[in-house]
Amino acid sequence: MDKYGVVGNPIQHSLSPQIHQAFSKQTQQNLSYEKYLVELSEFEITIKDFQRSNFKGLNITVPFKERAFAICDELSIRAKLAGAVNTILFEDTGKIYGDNTDGIGLLRDISINHNFSLENKAVLLVGAGGAARGIIKPIIDAKPKILTITNRTYKKAEHLANEFAQLLNITIESLPFSDITQCYDCIINATAMGLENAAFPLSGKIISNDCCCYDMVYNKQTSFLKWAKANEASLILDGLGMLVEQAAESFYLWRGVRPNTKDILKHCF
Ligand code: ATR
Repeated sequence: MDKYGVVGNPIQHSLSPQIHQAFSKQTQQNLSYEKYLVELSEFEITIKDFQRSNFKGLNITVPFKERAFAICDELSIRAKLAGAVNTILFEDTGKIYGDNTDGIGLLRDISINHNFSLENKAVLLVGAGGAARGIIKPIIDAKPKILTITNRTYKKAEHLANEFAQLLNITIESLPFSDITQCYDCIINATAMGLENAAFPLSGKIISNDCCCYDMVYNKQTSFLKWAKANEASLILDGLGMLVEQAAESFYLWRGVRPNTKDILKHCF
């Protein structure tokens, strides 16, 4: 039986084993998938151990995505652009191939599962860390009219916008910003903020009449989701759909078979 798994720290709440086990049942692929807690100081050595133990692939989660990027022998274009790897494939040649399926997972969830197109829309990305970097290229590919990045540390937003400047003229705002000149049709929270009790630091006036508010965190009532609800955003989503979609893309890379994610989202969660 081919072996796969997810590594992270912490890892106990990960839903990835449940998702991949459902995928394998649905597609009749004979594989195992478990979660593994890896000590912060032992990530690189543990990955080599998995490879020696004939694992076929791994998912990588917080806080190891950048370190996974650094140990890969080959990288997909989307992993290079994200600067982070969430999916590893151990090749028969002994090489480690790294991919990043987070961005495509988010876009598939918004555009396919929820039928919400970003084309010609005004999009606000809140955050400029690893999570934001991982989704920016697929957002640009979806052809928004406006893309703004807002971040507590302005310089990081500026840096991220500059990196993608050849593809789109990205505007930048500090966080919070009060000079509201633009309403947004899609607001994506890619920050770690909101698990504490502080209010989300933006005016509800930036929410357009037909706005999708998306938190990349799942299974938590974040201050962003509460803010979206209080301001009556028309579509409010957490990151569960993205989690299932990024998993499906990893599964496809490993097995060459694409699971039916709608079925899994409907029946498993
Ligand atoms: P991740 O890989 O999850 O993106 P990260 O690279 O550490 O983690 O980035 C965390 C993001 O959350 C950053 O955009 C960070 O803002 P700064 O760049 O200013 O640090 C944002 N963040 C975390 N806690 C926050 C808070 N309490 N208020 C506002 N932004 C916060």
